[in-house]
Amino acid sequence: MSSRTTTVTAYVEDVSPGSGALPPRAWYASSDAASLSLNGIWAFRLSRTADAEDDSFAEVGYDAGDWARVEVPGHWVLQGHGSPVYTNHLYPFPVDPPRVPTENPTGDHLRVFDLPADWPGPSGGGAVLRFDGVESCARVWLNGTDLGEFKGSRLPHEFAVGHLLRARGNVLAVRVHQWSAGSYLEDQDQWWLPGVFRDVTLLHRPAGCALDFFVHASYDHVSGEGTLRVDSDVDGRVTVPDLGVDTATGEPVTVPVEPWSAELPRLYDGVLATQGERIPLRIGFRTVELADGLIRVNGRAVLFKGVNRHEWHPEKGRALDLATMREDVLLMKRHNVNAVRTSHYPPHPAFLDLCDELGLWVIDECDLETHGFAEQGWRDNPVDDDRWTPALLDRAARMVERDKNHPSVVLWSLGNEAGTGRGLTAMAEWIHGRDPSRLVHYEGDHTCRDTDVYSRMYTGHAEVERVGRGLDGGPHRRRELPYLLCEYAHAMGNGPGGLADYQRLFEAHDRLQGGFVWEWIDHGIAHPGLGYAYGGDFGEELHDGNFVCDGLLFPDRRPSPGLVEFKKVIEPVTIEGDASGGTVRVRNGYDFAGLSALAFTWSYRVDGETVDSGFLPVPPLEPGESAEVKLPAPPATAPAGEALWTVRALLAAGTAWAPEGHVVAWGQFGRSARPAPSVAAAGGPVPGEGLITLGPASFDARTGALRRVGAVDITGLRLDVWRATTDNDDGAASQPDARYGRLWRRLGLHRVQHRLDAVESGDDALTVRTRVAPAAGEIGLSTVYRWTSDGPRLGLTVSVTPEGDWTVPLPRLGIRFGLSSADRVRWYGGGPGEAYPDSATASEVGRWQSTVDELQTPYVRPQENGARAGVRWAEIGGLRVEGDPEFFLTARRWTTEQLDAAAHRTDLAPGDTVWVNLDHGLHGLGSQSCGPGPLPRYFLRAEPARFTFVLSEVSA
Ligand code: GAL
Repeated sequence: MSSRTTTVTAYVEDVSPGSGALPPRAWYASSDAASLSLNGIWAFRLSRTADAEDDSFAEVGYDAGDWARVEVPGHWVLQGHGSPVYTNHLYPFPVDPPRVPTENPTGDHLRVFDLPADWPGPSGGGAVLRFDGVESCARVWLNGTDLGEFKGSRLPHEFAVGHLLRARGNVLAVRVHQWSAGSYLEDQDQWWLPGVFRDVTLLHRPAGCALDFFVHASYDHVSGEGTLRVDSDVDGRVTVPDLGVDTATGEPVTVPVEPWSAELPRLYDGVLATQGERIPLRIGFRTVELADGLIRVNGRAVLFKGVNRHEWHPEKGRALDLATMREDVLLMKRHNVNAVRTSHYPPHPAFLDLCDELGLWVIDECDLETHGFAEQGWRDNPVDDDRWTPALLDRAARMVERDKNHPSVVLWSLGNEAGTGRGLTAMAEWIHGRDPSRLVHYEGDHTCRDTDVYSRMYTGHAEVERVGRGLDGGPHRRRELPYLLCEYAHAMGNGPGGLADYQRLFEAHDRLQGGFVWEWIDHGIAHPGLGYAYGGDFGEELHDGNFVCDGLLFPDRRPSPGLVEFKKVIEPVTIEGDASGGTVRVRNGYDFAGLSALAFTWSYRVDGETVDSGFLPVPPLEPGESAEVKLPAPPATAPAGEALWTVRALLAAGTAWAPEGHVVAWGQFGRSARPAPSVAAAGGPVPGEGLITLGPASFDARTGALRRVGAVDITGLRLDVWRATTDNDDGAASQPDARYGRLWRRLGLHRVQHRLDAVESGDDALTVRTRVAPAAGEIGLSTVYRWTSDGPRLGLTVSVTPEGDWTVPLPRLGIRFGLSSADRVRWYGGGPGEAYPDSATASEVGRWQSTVDELQTPYVRPQENGARAGVRWAEIGGLRVEGDPEFFLTARRWTTEQLDAAAHRTDLAPGDTVWVNLDHGLHGLGSQSCGPGPLPRYFLRAEPARFTFVLSEVSA
C-alpha cells in the first residue's frame, strides 16, 4: 500500500465518529426555509476496495458519463451491484477492531444539481447538506471541497455548505464504504446493506434561525394542565393558537390541555418563530416517570403491547418511503399494537412523526450492537474500551438530539446486545443528563445499573410469572424496577405460540408492563426465482438462513396469522359471556381511553347461521372499569343446534387509522353444546369382486383401504403423525431439549411404516388393524380403523394405542387422504385463518369458505401451516366430513413430505391430488426458534386416543 492511499482511507478504520459534520440537532420535516431534495438518480461507480480509485471524481468537471446509475435513497446491492449478506450476530469479516477487510466494497456517488431560481442568496444565510442515513461510512465533497466523513449508519449528519454553493452545476460527491470501524458497532441481526439509504437534502439556514430547539411539554394529571417551554439557542416566540399561547422561547407557560397518549394522541399545532425561520411544531403534552416501581405516563401505568420494528421493504431494503412507514403504523394501530421498539436503531425520522400523530409509545433505540464479540467472551468489546466512547456518545447524541421533540418517544434505548461496559454507562449518564424527561432502557446488562427498567428477552412464562410475583431476586436496583420483555414471542415461521399465556401474566401482575414481539416484518428480499430470498441465497460465505424472516408480517406486508392472533390477544376490551348466555361482561382494558368511541354489536348464531343480531348498549366505561351487560333473550324461533353469541366492539366512527366499523375486540361464548355426530350402524360390510362395500363406500378387500365414498375417489387414507417441521419445531441451538423437529426426525416419525395386521368384516363394521411405527425402533402406535355405515353415511372411528417408551410428543395425530379433485372448501368451526393449539385465540367459530390455495399460509420457508381449528364439519371435493370431537382441517396440493423438503415457496409444485389432513390433535407451536417451547398444556402427548369422523357425499 502506498502511503497516499493509506491516508486517503485511514478514516475508514478510525474509531472516531468522523470529522467535519455539524453538531446534531432536532429534526423536523419542513419549515418556511427553502430546501432541495437531492434524492433521485445518481451516477455510481463500485470498487472492490476502499482505495481502488483516487478522489478526483469529486472535482468539478469530472466526466462520469460511463458510470452506472443508482437510486438514492437506496442500497447498491439491491440495485444490481454486488450482493446483500445476512448474518445474525457473526461479523462477516475477521474480528480485529477497528480493522476491516481489504475487500471493502466502495460506492462512489455523484450528483450534479442547480439551485432553484428562488434559492436565497448568500446574504440571506447559510445552508446545510443533510444525510439522514448512509451505511456504513461516507466521505463527502461539494464542488471539490472535502467536507469531512462520518459513521453511524442510521443517524443524521449535516455539513455547512452555504459558502460553497453555486447557482448552477454544484457537484456533490459521496464515497461510501461498506465496512468501517463503525461496522463493529452495527452488528444487528439483519442484512448488511451498504448505500445512501435515506434522504439527502440541502436546507437553507436563514440568518437568525435557531441552530437547535427543545420542546418541553409536560402534563400534570392532577391539575389537568400542561406546561410548555421551548428552549432555543436564539430568541424567538412560540405560539399555539388552540391554547391561546404566545410566549417567548425559554419562558414556561402553563395552561389547561388535553394530554397526549398513544391511545388519545392529542397534538397541538404551534409555531416556533425566530428571526429567520418559522418552524411548525406538533406538541403533545405528557409526563413520563418512574413512580412506585412503574413506568407511568400522565400518572398512569402503561401496559406495552408492542412490536420490534426493523425498517424493511422487500425491494428497497431499509430505504423506506413515507407511504410504507405510514402503512406500518396503520397496520400496527389496526392490530391493537400500542408500542414500537425501533430495533435496533433510530428509524427514519418521519416514522416518529407518524407515531406522534397516530399514537404509539416508542422505545427509540440507538444504532449500537456489538453482538459478534460474544463469540470471544466479549473480549475487546468496543463498549468497554474508552477509545470507542466518543463514538458511542456521538451516537447517543445524534439520536437524542434528532428525536427529542417527539411526544411518542418515552424511552431511550442505549442499543441492543452490546454486552456491558463503561461506554454504555457513559451513554446513559449523558442521556439522563440531557433529557431527564424520559427513561433509559438497555437489555444487555441484567444488573440494570444504567437503566430505569428491568428488560429481558425471550424469557419463558414461568420466569415471567416469578418476576411478576417479585420472586426473582437479583441485584437490589433491578428488583425495584418495572419489567419489560423488550423481545418475546419469536414470530419466525408458523407461530408464535403462547402469546395469550404471556398476556394473561402481563395483565395479572402490575410489575410486568408488557412486551414487544420479535419482530414486525420478515426481511425477505423479493427474488425472481425464489419468491423471497433469505440468508444464503446470495452465496454468502457465512449466513443464518431464514432467521431473518421472523416477522408478524410477510415481506409484502400481508399480516401473518401471528399478527391476527396478536391482535386478538392484546385487544383493549375484554368481552366474556357467562355460559348460560344471559349476560356479557365487558371490561375496558385501555390505560387512558374510555369506551365512548366504540359501538357494540351482538349476533346469535345456530350452527354458524346468524339467527338474529343487533346493537348492544354498553356504558362508556373508564379505563379499568367493567360492567355486566344484559343480552337480549335468544330468539324464540331459533332452530335447534349449537347456539353461540358473538359480541363485537367496533369503531363507532372512522379514526385517523381505521374506518368506522373496524373491529377492535370481540368475544364468543356458547349457549348450548353441539350435538355430536354419530352413525347408527344399519347393515354391515358386503364382500364383492376384490372390493368390500359398506353403505356409500367401497374398500379394497385385501388391504381394507378406502377407495370411494359415493362418487368421491379417495386414496391413501391412513393415520398421520408427521408435519413439515416449523422453524419453532426445529428450534434454536440454545434450546437443545425443545428441538422437537430434530427429536422427531431422530425417532423416524417422518418415515413411519404402516403394517397391516388384519382386515375383519363383522356384522356391523369393517375393522382394519394396523401398527404404525418407524424403522429401527421399538415404539409404535397400534391403530385400529373401525368403519360403520347408517346407509348414506360412513363412520370411521380411529383408536390409537401407543406402544413402547414414547419420550417425545407427537407432531400431529389424525388421518390424511388424497382427493382427486378439490378446490372450494366450506367448513363450520374455527376460522377464517390458521390456528394451532397455542395460537388459536383469534379463531372464531363460524361458517367459512375458502379455496385450497387460499388455505395455504405463505411462510417464506415452507413449513406446516394452514390448519383450521375446532372444525365441526367441512366440505371439500364433494366429500362432507363431520367430526367427534372437533378436529383440525388442513388441505394442500402437495404432500407433507414435499412441504417438508421445500426451501422456498417456489419449490412447491401443485400436484393432481389434494391432500387432506383431519387431525385429532396437533402439537403446540411455542416460539423456540429463539425462545421457550410450547407450554406443557399444548403438548400432543403419545397417549391412547379415539376419534370419529362421519363421511358422506355432499348433497347437491
Ligand atoms: C435477539 C436480538 C434480535 C434478533 C432476535 C432473534 O437476541 O436482539 O436482534 O436477533 O434475537 O431473531
